[in-house]
Amino acid sequence: MIIGIPKEIKKNECRVAAIPSAAALFVKNGHTVLVEPSAGLGSGYPDEAYVRAGAQITPREALYEGCDILYKVKEIEASEYDLLHENQIVLSYLHSNAHREMTEELLKRGITGLCYEDVDDERGEFPMLAPMSILAGKGGFLAALHFSQSVHGGRGLLLSRVAGLATPEITIIGCGWSGIGAAELAAAFGNKVTMLEISKKAMENAQAKLPVNVELLYSNRENLETCLKRTDVLINCILWPKTRKDHLVFREDLKLMKSGAMIIDVACDDAGAIETCRSTSHDAPIYFEEGILHYAVDNIPSGFAETASQMLSAATLPYALEIANHGIVEALKKDPHLRRGLTTYKGMLTLKETADKHGIPYVDPLVAISREQ
Ligand SMILES: NC(=O)c1ccc[n+]([C@@H]2O[C@H](COP(=O)([O-])OP(=O)(O)OC[C@H]3O[C@@H](n4cnc5c(N)ncnc54)[C@H](O)[C@@H]3O)[C@@H](O)[C@H]2O)c1
Repeated sequence: MIIGIPKEIKKNECRVAAIPSAAALFVKNGHTVLVEPSAGLGSGYPDEAYVRAGAQITPREALYEGCDILYKVKEIEASEYDLLHENQIVLSYLHSNAHREMTEELLKRGITGLCYEDVDDERGEFPMLAPMSILAGKGGFLAALHFSQSVHGGRGLLLSRVAGLATPEITIIGCGWSGIGAAELAAAFGNKVTMLEISKKAMENAQAKLPVNVELLYSNRENLETCLKRTDVLINCILWPKTRKDHLVFREDLKLMKSGAMIIDVACDDAGAIETCRSTSHDAPIYFEEGILHYAVDNIPSGFAETASQMLSAATLPYALEIANHGIVEALKKDPHLRRGLTTYKGMLTLKETADKHGIPYVDPLVAISREQ
């Protein structure tokens, strides 16, 4: 197959889907790899590194036209629609439920869209989302450290243990991948860290991984209110169901928080678990609501592009290689977890949550792929 690795065009998106060692593996398996000029540069990989791996540096239009698999990081932007062609396979974080127009374009153009974020595994986890979640959690704490500084809009509190002074308090909601990532750094800096969680299993897992200055509490209204009153930083790391309309932290709750406290919304679901959350960008990462600084950047890992690209490439490569080696239909037939991430297929919408959200008819992935047999 011909694999195309484009340069991401989303603002401040510096990641690349496949690093040169991944490109080399496709070539070794008999595939052709096209790489757009400077696709890997933002992650520290010059074109020459891809050429050494056996890839061909190819201009954007020719790459989109020539490849069977478009191997990407972020959503398809409007300027890319006309570059796509029927039956092309797009592998990416597509976020189809948040991008209705893009989803309709993929359907209209007969694109096979596979979302990294929806492919699960036998443990019910999301192996292509987890590495970016860990990074986003760590990056979320580092953003708190940065924006807490007086010169960056914060109240000037150093988020670290300092002899003679009260230790800062950090509350993290959700003990999953991003929550643990945030807690690791927050605790390592000596802060008092409290995590709120509804799942006992997730708490036990976090307890085993994190140091003893991390307190784990059941997430309920009483514990949340206690934390809101005392916390210096609230970090939201909940995977909020796409269809949920209520909130965990309401606008009114912000009045309970200390003056100068901040909310880091790693999950960054617009009006999701945090009512006042609206996603932001690396260019304009913060805003204030009810006097509380909010940070809700929707691609935190891009700030750590070299690390993120290495992690992303390692996580997605086995799936991309399986598809390239056996074809998309065989790969989907064999793997129910991969089917879970199939979003669009020959004009059919195959991701239930997105279908429900947009009111578009849903077709089960297995039915969709067997329809053409
Ligand atoms: N901003 C970014 O750049 C970025 C990057 C990666 C991931 N994310 C997002 O971060 C979010 C979290 O991802 P994750 O991989 O860490 O998820 P995860 O599934 O590993 O963890 C979520 C945890 O939240 C817990 N939870 C659910 N409801 C809760 C409640 N009411 N109170 C307390 N805990 C609750 C769950 O039990 C689970 O343990 C996702 O929405 C993901 O899309 C954002």
